[in-house]
Amino acid sequence: MTPVHPLELLEHRLGRRRQQGLARRMVCVGHATGPRVKVEGHDCLLMASNDYLGLASHPRLAEAALEASLTCGTGAGASRLVSGTLEAHQDLERAIAAFKETEAALFFSTGYMANLGVISALAGPGDYIVSDQLNHASLIDACRLSRATVKVYAHGDVAAAAHLLGEAPPEGLKLIVTDGVFSMDGDLAPLPGLLALAAEAGALLVVDDAHATGVWGARGRGSLEHFGLNPTPEAVLVGTFSKALGGLGGFVAASATVIEALVNLARPFLYTTAPPPSQAAVALAGLALVDEEPWRRDKLRQLCGHFRDQLSGLGLRLLSQEGAIIPLLVGGANESLAMGQALLRRGVMAPAIRPPTVPEGTSRIRLTVTAGHEMADMDQAAQAIAAATQEVGL
Ligand SMILES: Cc1ncc(COP(=O)(O)O)c(C=O)c1O
Repeated sequence: MTPVHPLELLEHRLGRRRQQGLARRMVCVGHATGPRVKVEGHDCLLMASNDYLGLASHPRLAEAALEASLTCGTGAGASRLVSGTLEAHQDLERAIAAFKETEAALFFSTGYMANLGVISALAGPGDYIVSDQLNHASLIDACRLSRATVKVYAHGDVAAAAHLLGEAPPEGLKLIVTDGVFSMDGDLAPLPGLLALAAEAGALLVVDDAHATGVWGARGRGSLEHFGLNPTPEAVLVGTFSKALGGLGGFVAASATVIEALVNLARPFLYTTAPPPSQAAVALAGLALVDEEPWRRDKLRQLCGHFRDQLSGLGLRLLSQEGAIIPLLVGGANESLAMGQALLRRGVMAPAIRPPTVPEGTSRIRLTVTAGHEMADMDQAAQAIAAATQEVGL
């Protein structure tokens, strides 16, 4: 029997995805992100960006990148533990620790790598992880990479997490892993309960605050601040500079012991070239702007409140009650795609989110608001959504 050509096999698999409405394709939004972009030559209102504070186009960040490149070069030349650690990395790590009010912090190339690094460094075979059902893909991949025993608890259910932790073997390290604000649902993890559980059960609590840092809490410190919680020694806080902070890069802020463990064991930190100084300088400038321009957070809250009122007025069921992530549940993948296309025809870009990013039967349009938007944009988006839902028959 002649073997099937590997490209034929791949074609077959891709064909199946297309049939199920699950194929992906990249859409170019022009030369820069912002509240308005160009899709296939047409002006569009962008309602799908995580640039929540609108910092990606802030001149201070661009100047920071330029100045760091001119004075420190464009590459770090080696991994952090060989000879790639520059002053820019250390300045940033001190600033992250101060911002998150932890003993220490570590900068990673991306948030994805921070999650892979922290979980696979802290937990290994013989250790025990309990993980929220709706955690981000990077946390799921990280749990798999760790080779620890992984148990998944029902979304946001502290009692279920406690029950599973109760079954952990007494030896070995225990981790509770959760998004702070869930990326595709926009809701908050029950952090007061989870932090208390971590202390009680002798576990560490890893909180991925990718969507909360800069946005949630009066000072933008994230989901812990929103709940009025201080980081305890059990808290391991992950974040990213790629969303509200307008740049690129991930971080872990935690106790000095956890950070020392990461420096020794986190392979996505150890075995990659250190981020360029410009990336660290942009991140540092982004952190400073969270404090210096609190009006961005206030404006975002006002826009989100207005937009939610508009959508509720249309009788739409929203998955989250607060924050800049506003998912509209559609259900089927194909219906969700049709909704995304109907919106695009009306000049609003908010693509469908489908499995495996979200569970089967829960495809959705994930709308996001940024401080770069104006009230009139919220009205325009709501009108387009009203017309698109009618057209698609939702
Ligand atoms: C919850 C969450 N964690 C981590 C990441 C990864 O962050 P980064 O884009 O910096 O790799 C993302 C999104 O990209 C995310 O939504």
